[in-house]
Amino acid sequence: MSQRTAHPQVIEFLQNRRSVLIKHLTEPGPNEDELNTILTIATRVPDHRKLEPWRLLVIRGEGRAQLGQKLAAIRAKKHDLIPQQLEIEANNFKRAPLVIAVVSSPQDGNTPVEEQTCSGAVVAQHINLAAAALGYASQWVTGWSCLDKDAQKTMGLADHEWIIGYVYIGSTDDEPADRARPDLNDKVTYIDS
Ligand SMILES: Cc1cc2nc3c(=O)[nH]c(=O)nc-3n(C[C@H](O)[C@H](O)[C@H](O)COP(=O)(O)O)c2cc1C
Repeated sequence: MSQRTAHPQVIEFLQNRRSVLIKHLTEPGPNEDELNTILTIATRVPDHRKLEPWRLLVIRGEGRAQLGQKLAAIRAKKHDLIPQQLEIEANNFKRAPLVIAVVSSPQDGNTPVEEQTCSGAVVAQHINLAAAALGYASQWVTGWSCLDKDAQKTMGLADHEWIIGYVYIGSTDDEPADRARPDLNDKVTYIDS
């Protein structure tokens, strides 16, 4: 006989989890043990043919300012930025105690690249889930640097790699209003007859 184990607390957690805008994130961020928990959960994802077509950059401490300044310099070479814009760019990663960049690293093989991207997207969402389960707040964002070749090079990415997103993680005192969620009637088609 099959055994079924329900996890009602997990269901309630998933029903209520939501992202928190970066502007509401503060210190503290996850400690070393918690970070390892997040990274372990993040890399435990569906992955067709076990290619592991992703990797992670942990951006924290002084690394946030250092990388921000490098990316700001790249941006400034391509666009006329006023000093305030340059400062915003340089301080981008300092808006949260911890930022994890999810790098898509497609591998050769029979698995279509689209499927590999999907696996990477699940990595990013698992970071959101693990962070929330530990009591932290987070938001997955993108930006120009995700697809910019010079930015990618500065971050140590290979030519075929790109950034699926940056997940900003921190604490929050803010009880964020939930966004409107989809009406299942608009989104679900039942094929049952
Ligand atoms: C690939 C991807 C990129 C995103 N980029 C941004 C972004 O740059 N800025 C932003 O405000 N939200 C962005 N979002 C949306 C938020 O991460 C998030 O979906 C939204 O805040 C609600 O999420 P929730 O369902 O977890 O509450 C992005 C989402 C995805 C999936």
